[in-house]
Amino acid sequence: MTKRILRVLAGEAIWPPPIWLMRQAGRYLPEYRALRAQAGGFLSLCLTPELAAEVTLQPVRRFGMDAAILFSDIFVLSWALGQGIEYRDGEGPVLPPIRDAKALAGLDIGRVEKAVAPVLETVQRVRAAVGEAALIGFAGSPFTMACYMVQGTGSKDFAHARAMAYGNPDLFDRLIDLVTEATILYLAGQIAAGAEAVMLFDTWAGLLSPSQFARHVTAPTRRIVAALRAAHPGVPVIGFPRLAGVSVGAFARASGVQAVALDTSADPRAAGLLVDQGVVLQGNLDPLAVVAGGAALEGETRAVLEGFAGRAHIFNLGHGIVPQTPPEHVAALVAQVRAA
Ligand code: CP3
Repeated sequence: MTKRILRVLAGEAIWPPPIWLMRQAGRYLPEYRALRAQAGGFLSLCLTPELAAEVTLQPVRRFGMDAAILFSDIFVLSWALGQGIEYRDGEGPVLPPIRDAKALAGLDIGRVEKAVAPVLETVQRVRAAVGEAALIGFAGSPFTMACYMVQGTGSKDFAHARAMAYGNPDLFDRLIDLVTEATILYLAGQIAAGAEAVMLFDTWAGLLSPSQFARHVTAPTRRIVAALRAAHPGVPVIGFPRLAGVSVGAFARASGVQAVALDTSADPRAAGLLVDQGVVLQGNLDPLAVVAGGAALEGETRAVLEGFAGRAHIFNLGHGIVPQTPPEHVAALVAQVRAA
């Protein structure tokens, strides 16, 4: 029997829709915090297959999610290319910024295969243990990766990266191209290791003008989708151009993704009109409604269910679960969706 999420990703509308949640593994779960403490640093947790596989499976066991999302981080790939990464408590990730040709020359796609081998082993282990849930692999999109790789830290506007895209387009294009090629290698490796679908997280896509969006979001996504489809036909790609607004329809059509994840600001019916019928929709409950719980969570969940009714839809959040989320609220959410 085909797994529920894979049926939806093949275009079938199922009621009630299957559910998984972005960042479903993580600090809001006590069992995650216990393993995280055991691993030492966060990067070593991502690179220790036994522990990363266990963390991946924790939310599937606890809540009966329809998918497991590989436990890793988008910066495993920039690290694999040769850029350092430090996760500082309370400060977020810090990377030595890439602002010139010399720094770019320090990255080497030849290192990637060996460096990501532990992640691919995690994928194999999870696939063997995941049961009825589907295993989703992932990477950051080239644009969102470039944002952090150039900026060096989190940011509200990624001004260094976006200024480079205008001021030194040749350098920025070369960075995007390198990350695009590395992402194809990495996701093809995840699929070969057992991932049944892959998702591209483009957290900062909404910062771009329409022309920059076409160049740095849609075009690299199209390259990744085409390369993966050639090597692994039938494995769906979920795009997540967060805060892309009305550009989401053109993004879906031009990139060729099989599914689009919508952020919380997207109206389900309006987005459904913009995105062609054949493209599956995922989303888009507000993560803060899950923090609140109770009647607010129930009402917002109902609105999401009704908003996507009749369409091939995967229930999810509009962005990742936040650390202060009570796990009982996640259990209540899953129960409500199952009972719909
Ligand atoms: O359960 C899952 O969804 C799988 C794991 C996952 C993580 N990061 C684990 C993580 C996934 C899919 C990501 C994607 C990711 N990472 C994105 C794109 C999606 C998004 O949320 O916008 C981005 C931009 C990152 C980069 C990143 N990693 C930041 C900004 C941070 C710091 C903020 C934070 O939440 O701590 C991280 C660290 C990180 N990635 C943690 C986890 C569980 C927390 C690390 C810890 O345990 O201390």
